[in-house]
Amino acid sequence: INLQIASNGGNASSPLMYGLMFEDINHSGDGGIYAELINNRAFQGNREYPSTLEPWVPVGNAILTLQNTSIPLSSALPTSVNVAPKPHSNTAKIGLLNPGWWGIDIKPQKYTGSFWTLCSFQGTFTVKLQSNLTDEVFASLDIPSLCQHNKWVEHTFELIPHVAAPNSNNTFVIEFDSSSGSVNFNLISLFPPTYNNRPNGNRPDLMEALKSLNPSYYRIPGGNNIEGDIFHYPWRWNETIGPLTQRPGRPGTWGYTNTDGLGLVEYLNWCTDLDVEPVLAVWSGMYLGNDVGHILTAEALAPWVDDTLNELEFILGPVSTPYGSLRASLGYPEPWPLKYLEIGNEDNLYTNGSSTYAAYRFSMFYDAISAAYPDLKIISSTGDYTAVGGSGSTATLTDYHVYSRPDTLVSMFNHFDHASREYKSLIGEYAIVQGNVEGPPQGVDWDLPKFDYPIWIGAVSEAIWSIGAERNSDAVVGMSYAPGFQNLNSYSWSPDLISFTADVSQTVLSTSWHVISLLSNNRYTSTVPVTSDSPIGPAYWVAGTSGNGKYTFKTAIYNSTSPLPFNITFEGVEKGTPGLLTVLSAPGGLSANVLEENGAPANVVTKNEINLVAGSGGLFEFKLNNWEVAVLTT
Ligand code: AHR
Repeated sequence: INLQIASNGGNASSPLMYGLMFEDINHSGDGGIYAELINNRAFQGNREYPSTLEPWVPVGNAILTLQNTSIPLSSALPTSVNVAPKPHSNTAKIGLLNPGWWGIDIKPQKYTGSFWTLCSFQGTFTVKLQSNLTDEVFASLDIPSLCQHNKWVEHTFELIPHVAAPNSNNTFVIEFDSSSGSVNFNLISLFPPTYNNRPNGNRPDLMEALKSLNPSYYRIPGGNNIEGDIFHYPWRWNETIGPLTQRPGRPGTWGYTNTDGLGLVEYLNWCTDLDVEPVLAVWSGMYLGNDVGHILTAEALAPWVDDTLNELEFILGPVSTPYGSLRASLGYPEPWPLKYLEIGNEDNLYTNGSSTYAAYRFSMFYDAISAAYPDLKIISSTGDYTAVGGSGSTATLTDYHVYSRPDTLVSMFNHFDHASREYKSLIGEYAIVQGNVEGPPQGVDWDLPKFDYPIWIGAVSEAIWSIGAERNSDAVVGMSYAPGFQNLNSYSWSPDLISFTADVSQTVLSTSWHVISLLSNNRYTSTVPVTSDSPIGPAYWVAGTSGNGKYTFKTAIYNSTSPLPFNITFEGVEKGTPGLLTVLSAPGGLSANVLEENGAPANVVTKNEINLVAGSGGLFEFKLNNWEVAVLTT
């Protein structure tokens, strides 16, 4: 393959080309990246998932009872646990314990905790981190009661274990002397150190796994999870802000209650911490499901459009406005730098050409928002051009999703070659989820199982898809793999970009993660034309430059029957110029990074870095094998 690469004449590359997408699916938020260690900390309930005591366990001769006391902690958190001694028991100490989200990792580090009580108890509470298997106590602290009659009172504490626990089968315990009667507890919380030491923050290891992908945007908070299902609970920004006592939580779309401890402010801070552009999603007036009323009428939608304007004022408005002032009251006088807003999620799945989305729902949002915030880039969620503007105006972006098979995705390499340059696309979700089948490229069969983990030829085909997007960066704004996380203790969707155990002991960076890491960490500011004597396929490529004679060449090989020799010259690059060729490979197309039976993650991806030097005429020569992904930089 002989390639000559020009120094100019391509398109400016989108600065957002590689990004992330997050929704609380697979216990990726609660029990996942949100670092809260206590499972079911506030007994939040709703019509879909009523309040429960799971997984709390009584300690000593205690009886645990859920109660809605006449004095609630807050209207958002009305349910508490009453801890009372069993009648006629003579155990001095009673209490309750929580095993965390499938375990609690204990290290000699600071744990920051709090709990609220309603009681008249005047003794001492003891909080402990201890083994669930033995009597070993890793940290213990006595806390004088601050209880006041008929008033909820918060107790705060820090626990520093003297030693690391040998495994994560540990519990958090609160005990007190039973002779003084019962105590009601609510919002019992415990955090280990978090990324950037954010209070109410995120797991550092998973944040590092995201950060090292060099992302540029974050599409939050969904996905299906903003929509709500037949119980009609969409994600509501104003119920996810402020003190945790004011957040009722909601039934997430993926089979469990969301505490909403990870709320709008946390999402925006998360973007700040990763130094990425937020791409904020708002609910478009469509619930998942086929019940009557799952799409709101224009009349019913109007308050929700107003609600979105309130949310935008909260994020972007000056402190002189009501919601800007609310933001400031929460400690954020400066607005967040929001530039992108998506209306809904996958409205194309529920509609066709004459959709209610395009007919009125999208335009209601578009007209109101663009009038108030003309600089905001508004994204439709149809992935096509059926909703690209309000009354007489045009939307700037549409969100295209693709879940596919390797052969099919490779066949879509040219997908954006003739796409609209006026209405650009965000590839808000993509992933290979099933394998190839006989015959011509086919779509996913959603009735059949999906992969457990991203497989290597899937990752190679995603690389080809990404290269196709990079070549069209005047039409494609960026792309994000989805879903981002899989909590191996409890999940409903695979494959996923990063898999982890809730007890923080293991993290699996998928084959797809390795490909994205290579492509995203090698950016350039503009594509450049490539002249070739060979057709595209089985090698797929893109070339770019950041000026000053610096070039980046990316390629992936799919279904080559022999090694492919490359001879590449870059305009202006002379003999003796050094180049770095980074090659990703794996032992077979079906190989995957998994958590093995012995509990350890296996990495099948090999990364080879090869130093090259341009020969006569500035020629770089190298060979690549089938199913390799490579980047050459000069
Ligand atoms: O990524 C999983 C789901 O796939 C998302 O929630 C949804 O947008 C898509 O259908």
